[in-house]
Amino acid sequence: MAFARKDLLAIEPLSAEEITAILEAAEGFAEVSTREVKKVPTLRGKTVVNLFFEPSTRTRVSFEIAEKRLSADAVNFSSSGSSVSKGETLLDTVRNMEAMAPDVLVIRHSAAGAAEFVARRTRAAVVNAGDGRHEHPTQALLDLFTIRRHKGQIEGLTVAIVGDVQNSRVARSDIHGLTKLGAKVRVCGPPTMLPPRPEVLGVEATTDVRRAVEGADVVMALRIQKERLGRASFPSLREYARFFGIDRSVLAAAPPDAIVMHPGPINRGVELSSDVADGPQSVILDQVESGVAVRMAVIYLLAGGQGEWTS
Ligand code: CP
Repeated sequence: MAFARKDLLAIEPLSAEEITAILEAAEGFAEVSTREVKKVPTLRGKTVVNLFFEPSTRTRVSFEIAEKRLSADAVNFSSSGSSVSKGETLLDTVRNMEAMAPDVLVIRHSAAGAAEFVARRTRAAVVNAGDGRHEHPTQALLDLFTIRRHKGQIEGLTVAIVGDVQNSRVARSDIHGLTKLGAKVRVCGPPTMLPPRPEVLGVEATTDVRRAVEGADVVMALRIQKERLGRASFPSLREYARFFGIDRSVLAAAPPDAIVMHPGPINRGVELSSDVADGPQSVILDQVESGVAVRMAVIYLLAGGQGEWTS
């Protein structure tokens, strides 16, 4: 098994072999969700705490489902309704969690580096469920898993990532994962939302959305993150949709077998038109489905399940 880390904090430090090991483990777990009884006893007696300091639908629910399908005891914490609203610090919150001996902590936080901060202060394995603008590693893993299932492999594919690349932790994690596994990545968006030095990330950049999707095997739209935009990065959402929104006419510039992805939540009519989001090339709900298998694999590998898992 080529994955033996204490934590999963980012894709950037992982090798292609480590990423592939997680994807292979996820292939094994995907079958569990197709059973009538969607549960394996693998992590019975293990405790996983999901610490969400930022809103989430997909990530939070899918981690909880993944943990329950592994028979771990899943405990959910959200900052609203907790003592964080009384002023308790992240450090004190972690110390108190540590006192209750969890095996795994899953954390989403608005501050880049929050997951690493926690990982250094707990014996539990830590999974980064999104830290500010930094990384969202399990999103990248589920994206890679989904692409592999639809296209057979990652190596040699061309992936167009369109949107707020500079502010997106999803884009950062996806770019690291895709390039490590041998895909060619093009990023596209308004100049204010593109990385200043795309060559450092090993990607090409363009402000022309049709050129970005031309010949692409995968067209990935990113959410406009209103919560992370400082000064206006573009004149209006209408302007953004006009130049960077993916509708049927833009998608027509891509090959007919290109798949369309979006991490969610979608701003319909902004990043994607509804007929594209819900159309035959969309694999957006497959991404959500993949999230459960990938998160089962991650929790299993970090909670010490290095051997064969018990079905
Ligand atoms: N993709 C994603 O992270 O979605 P949520 O914010 O709903 O978890």
